[in-house]
Amino acid sequence: MSTKMKKPASAKPKGFPPKKQKPQKAAAAPAAADAQAQAPRPTGGRATPQTPRGMRDIVPSEQRYWRHIYKKVEELTAAYGYERLDTPILEDTSLFVRSAGKQSDVVEKEMFSFIDKGNENVTMRPEGTAPLVRAYINHGMVNLPQPVKLYYWGPMFRYERPQHGRFRQHNQFGVEVFGDPSPVQDCEVILLAHLFYKELGIKTAIHINSLGCNQCRQGYQAELSAYYRSKRSQLCEDCKRRLAKNPLRLLDCKEASCQPIKEAAPHIVDFLDEDCKNHLMRVLEYLDDLQVPYVLNPHLVRGFDYYNRTVFEIMLADENPESGQTALGGGGRYDNLVEQLGGRPTPACGFGIGVERVILQLKAQQIEPQEDRRPDIFLAQLGDQARRKAFMLFEELRASGVHAAANFSKGALKGQLEIANRLGAKYTVILGQKEVLDGTVLIRDMESGMQEIVLYDKAGMEIKKKLGKA
Ligand code: HAM
Repeated sequence: MSTKMKKPASAKPKGFPPKKQKPQKAAAAPAAADAQAQAPRPTGGRATPQTPRGMRDIVPSEQRYWRHIYKKVEELTAAYGYERLDTPILEDTSLFVRSAGKQSDVVEKEMFSFIDKGNENVTMRPEGTAPLVRAYINHGMVNLPQPVKLYYWGPMFRYERPQHGRFRQHNQFGVEVFGDPSPVQDCEVILLAHLFYKELGIKTAIHINSLGCNQCRQGYQAELSAYYRSKRSQLCEDCKRRLAKNPLRLLDCKEASCQPIKEAAPHIVDFLDEDCKNHLMRVLEYLDDLQVPYVLNPHLVRGFDYYNRTVFEIMLADENPESGQTALGGGGRYDNLVEQLGGRPTPACGFGIGVERVILQLKAQQIEPQEDRRPDIFLAQLGDQARRKAFMLFEELRASGVHAAANFSKGALKGQLEIANRLGAKYTVILGQKEVLDGTVLIRDMESGMQEIVLYDKAGMEIKKKLGKA
């Protein structure tokens, strides 16, 4: 076949040839995980657009962390019988207002909400629990054998001030279990979060509290309001508002000036009725049995209105619970939310874990994801004929399950052998001009350096034999 080909008229793309561009600065070093989130914004004009503030690309060199973590997610969820459920990024705004609560920070300040072209008020999901509850109701999962155990993995959006470990787009691995009110289910969910970190090599402690039921909380809220009213003049503006509208949210305040007031606030555990107290005790007993380390944290209330009874956060071990460190994950029970969103009364509990925060910890503790992606074989070629034959052999090997690698755009053999070495290929197949003429290939064992000549037509079979894949 002639290699001379006429270019089709449409081959010239729009805007070709490209205008001369100023050289771009090199991308930020991958070690600076937060660097993208904090990079200066372009001023417009001809500058290259950047990722939106607080949002990041996950570049190829970072992907191994994501693969490593997702593999653990799949292992653990399969072992404990959870199934994946994916929901859309966009939801009706009312879903989050009705579940998280109007006074929650997320609803008040952090939602990416907008009116779409059909005049619907929609929100890019800030969290995964409410969407899963909606899906559980929409798909009639209440009719399935209970409990229904689900997990999710994907991006969440919160319009927060970007800082270390806090992004406007972050990813969560979460689980939600529907239909089981018993403390053993709380424990299973907590255990799963604990094992997830432990098996990734990160030591954590579970901070745990109980918010009781609606009745317990009424008594507590009255006491909490009275206490905070007596300190009203010392409160930040947000807390003054919370005091009037939703006193439990006072305990979410991050303002330094409000912390001493929070320290001395009454504890909800002192207001629990017998059932709620028993529930908490049983959860703790199970955790003791399973040797899951925990810390009772009487001020833990979590940032959403939907929780009742058990709430927990996953913190790094050996850290002071009051040091203001950010949580690696959090969750709890929400027995009223399914009904509140229009479903049949269904107890539920779950957690959400921030994947970026896990990666930051893996890096900080120099825990390297272990994965063997070494190719079985690298195909090196010299000359056009050899390239064509190597390409065909590559495809034959790939289709029969051999992990093959090649770089067909490289011409020089030296460069290709360097790549084969760098990738850690077990064997390299070399096809030069001589081999093309002889109808052979050269197979080199990269560890011993031994070389062997075999017929091109038999090469696929010989390679598979060497790899034990014949
Ligand atoms: P959350 O505590 O708001 O809970 O978020 C869960 C985890 O997501 C946090 O502990 C943190 O690791 C991560 N995270 C949250 N916001 C950010 C951010 N801006 N940047 C980076 N990471 C972040 C929930 O979302 C609940 N839906 C959890 C749950 C599930 N409760 C019951 N079931």
